[in-house]
Amino acid sequence: MQDVVFNLIDNEIKRQVEGLELIPSENYVSKAVLEAMGSVLTNKYSEGYPSFTGLRDWDEEKISQEILPNYRYYGGQQNVDRIERLAIERACRLFDADHANVQPHSGANANEAVYFAWCEPGDNILAMNLGHGGHLTHGSPVTRSAKIYNFIPYGTDETGDLDYAQIEELALGNDVKLILIGYSAFMKIPDFERVAKIRQKAEEKWGHEILLMADMAHVAGLIAAKVHPNPLKYGFNVMTTTTHKTLRGPRGGLILSMGNVGSPLKKIAEKNLNNIPTMIDKAVFPGTQGGPLEHIIAAKAVAFGEALQPEFKTYAENIIKNAKALAKELKNHGFILQGNGTDNHLILIDMMQSFGINGKMYEKALDLVGLTLNANALPGDTGGAFKPNGVRLGTPAITTRGMGEAEMKKLANWMKEIAELCQEADENGVENIESFQPEKFAIIRDQVKKLALRFPIPNIHN
Ligand SMILES: Cc1ncc(COP(=O)(O)O)c(C=O)c1O
Repeated sequence: MQDVVFNLIDNEIKRQVEGLELIPSENYVSKAVLEAMGSVLTNKYSEGYPSFTGLRDWDEEKISQEILPNYRYYGGQQNVDRIERLAIERACRLFDADHANVQPHSGANANEAVYFAWCEPGDNILAMNLGHGGHLTHGSPVTRSAKIYNFIPYGTDETGDLDYAQIEELALGNDVKLILIGYSAFMKIPDFERVAKIRQKAEEKWGHEILLMADMAHVAGLIAAKVHPNPLKYGFNVMTTTTHKTLRGPRGGLILSMGNVGSPLKKIAEKNLNNIPTMIDKAVFPGTQGGPLEHIIAAKAVAFGEALQPEFKTYAENIIKNAKALAKELKNHGFILQGNGTDNHLILIDMMQSFGINGKMYEKALDLVGLTLNANALPGDTGGAFKPNGVRLGTPAITTRGMGEAEMKKLANWMKEIAELCQEADENGVENIESFQPEKFAIIRDQVKKLALRFPIPNIHN
């Protein structure tokens, strides 16, 4: 008899196939990525690192054959070493980086490792306020990092852009060790050059080096496809990212850096920005993690290989095109968007201002028709973490399914209909949206399913 776990996986396949994924941090991986993740590499321990020459030597044939000395604590590494080297080389090529650490188990681990590599307990870190679009790992008081380092939050201005004047004021008013640009709900393109200039001024004022870090977890796929600027080209020392989301790989983390590439487990001569690649290697292992997940690293290598193909650029362009088209349709229907639109894959809607309902109610109502997104706080949100007034959505997953501007129109229409149903329910004091006009929800549910089935998820069949 099939283990009940697989029954639930079958249910999840059905949910994914018949619904539309609008959560901007989710995507559908290729069959090759899935296969690498489910491979026997999960059986292998390989604490440490393979050799990495840092020569930007892109000869994959050579890498896949060559056996170099390694820095590992276990035997039997001949295949794993070469797979991890391929992942590193491909990541460096994708992002034009001097070095890549492909071992972080997640985006959160990647960020913690960078803080640990560069900062001392009590150091000041400038990072975006969670309520303005930053991420939990950028200093939310509920995290371990916030207990170790002193995070100083900056926000967005009234146009929804980064408040660069505030960043400068804070960087010159506090002896900062690290400036972090990164977010999970921000729709504009950061001015990396401007931030690099602020760093320079702050370094002159404080008389020491300041690490410039970008957490590009959300837009990494767009950067890889060169449809979004790459912070590493503007003087940023480090870029962290997740490998899922727009990059369309397995769930995991990645740290890219610029500087000297040394031997990861040997002593570092001096703690300075030039040596940051090696400091990061040591901070990931043994600093904050144990054995790497080589099956996930193999899947990362496969995903990076896919992102290096010309089709991926077209995919990334289409993500943005679809997001802009969806934003325009939503605005036509009376939705009020944070930042008045989008320049990337993300849209943030103020549901309270648009329809007088909170984001959580709308999230639940959309779930009923197979449209999945998430409630999200807006700058200055009074709704709290569990009942925020906004919702966040994005186009990476539906673009992977091959949808285009015509489908964005349909989506916006359904979203408008559901918003109006929620509004009516709210006005009638209905607490449980599931019990409100179920026949109307059923009709839309059916239409969503029909559209979803016309755009199958690549390589997954019901
Ligand atoms: C900007 C940013 N950084 C870090 C993370 C954390 O990634 P993970 O969930 O893999 O730990 C996320 C995930 O949502 C993110 O959006």
